[in-house]
Amino acid sequence: MTREKLKIGLFGYGCVGQGLHDVLNSSKGFRADIVKICVKDPSKKRRIPMANFTFDKNDILNDPSINLVVELIDDADAAYKIVTTAMKKGKNVVTANKVMVAKHFKKLVEMQDKYKVSLLYEASAGASIPIIRNLEEYYDNELLYSLRGILNGTTNYILTLMHNQGIDYEVALEEAREKGFAESNPSLDVEGWDAKYKLCIITGHAYGLFLEPDEVFHYGIKTISKFDIQYAKEKGFKIKLVPYVGKTNENTITSFVLPRFISPDKYLYNVDYEYNGVITEAAFADKQFFSGKGAGGHATGSAVLSDISANSYGYKYEYKKYQQGTVSNYTRDYRLEVYLRYNNEKDRELFKFEEVSEYFSGRSYKYVIGIVNLKRLYEIKEKLRTMDVFIVNTGRKGVNS
Ligand SMILES: NC(=O)c1ccc[n+]([C@@H]2O[C@H](COP(=O)([O-])OP(=O)(O)OC[C@H]3O[C@@H](n4cnc5c(N)ncnc54)[C@H](OP(=O)(O)O)[C@@H]3O)[C@@H](O)[C@H]2O)c1
Repeated sequence: MTREKLKIGLFGYGCVGQGLHDVLNSSKGFRADIVKICVKDPSKKRRIPMANFTFDKNDILNDPSINLVVELIDDADAAYKIVTTAMKKGKNVVTANKVMVAKHFKKLVEMQDKYKVSLLYEASAGASIPIIRNLEEYYDNELLYSLRGILNGTTNYILTLMHNQGIDYEVALEEAREKGFAESNPSLDVEGWDAKYKLCIITGHAYGLFLEPDEVFHYGIKTISKFDIQYAKEKGFKIKLVPYVGKTNENTITSFVLPRFISPDKYLYNVDYEYNGVITEAAFADKQFFSGKGAGGHATGSAVLSDISANSYGYKYEYKKYQQGTVSNYTRDYRLEVYLRYNNEKDRELFKFEEVSEYFSGRSYKYVIGIVNLKRLYEIKEKLRTMDVFIVNTGRKGVNS
């Protein structure tokens, strides 16, 4: 296969942009030049000469010599404008922006077809873990039962510190920020949005459904307390934030993002700090486990480089599961066993527990373990954001996957 010499217009020179620059400089055999880098803040000191930079996106978008736009900025709305303009002008695009891809997934897929261009976004889900291309190429004909994992490095970092060192949530979040793992707006991470956007992108490739993120229930770790960690530790579990997508019958899937108890015999138990892990369960390949760094400039830059390289030999996602169309329904009618820590009985009533297997009422907190319907969690999702409760999927076999 012949490789086209790539002339790259790069948007963003932050954590990932600089990481990509280092990775490209270390890949001597690879033929690609960064022609221009567009950034936002003219007053910022840069580590390479200013002649490399522009503050006007049109210097890249209107340059006919640039055949690949690499979009690595932290503003999803601006990114959408940049990416769609580039595609309309016939330029291929590589992006790491999960918010943008998840929010405009269907439209971006259609635009690739319409303008005969390729949009690749491996770094947007699982950073260095090559999950999207694996789903496209390796699992293209596989009967995939489910996919779950740890897709957010920041929350995993926080949960690891809380579990290992017994420190409070706020202190752990601050450390994740200092290490550069937290997004500019940490609520994206800790409220579970980031994991949900990634899950929606993965769902497009795993099952061929382009879900609106609003359709999918998500719950993060913002209200986790030392009681929850203590409960998990007493039972020998860790708590991880685990997005899940899986089949409920032949043509229907469900998905959600919830903290989950993980026992030591599970693959995800040892996925700590900023690492991510993905487990696929399939009819023929059985269970498989991918693990790698889920955040950081170089790890994410390596996934971006892989997309740039794929672009040089004309690679495009074919959205094979979408073409096959075997999955056509999405349901939230799904029973889950959860642990709910709460203070107020009225809060507990809101959940409409179908069955209760364990109950505790102490002076500082109460908890209940029982079956709830995902449909009910979705109905009360706005209220949940302001409630002093914490929910964990027990992951108990026989109740849910
Ligand atoms: N950090 C990670 O580990 C990681 C992992 C996976 C995916 N991602 C994704 O990668 C993308 C970049 O993340 P990051 O961590 O590198 O962000 P970052 O460190 O905050 O850097 C953002 C960069 O974007 C530039 N920028 C912002 N708005 C712009 C605009 N309108 N036009 C041109 N440039 C603009 C900024 O310019 P200035 O330099 O002038 O401020 C900065 O260089 C995001 O979509 C993020 O979700 C990040």
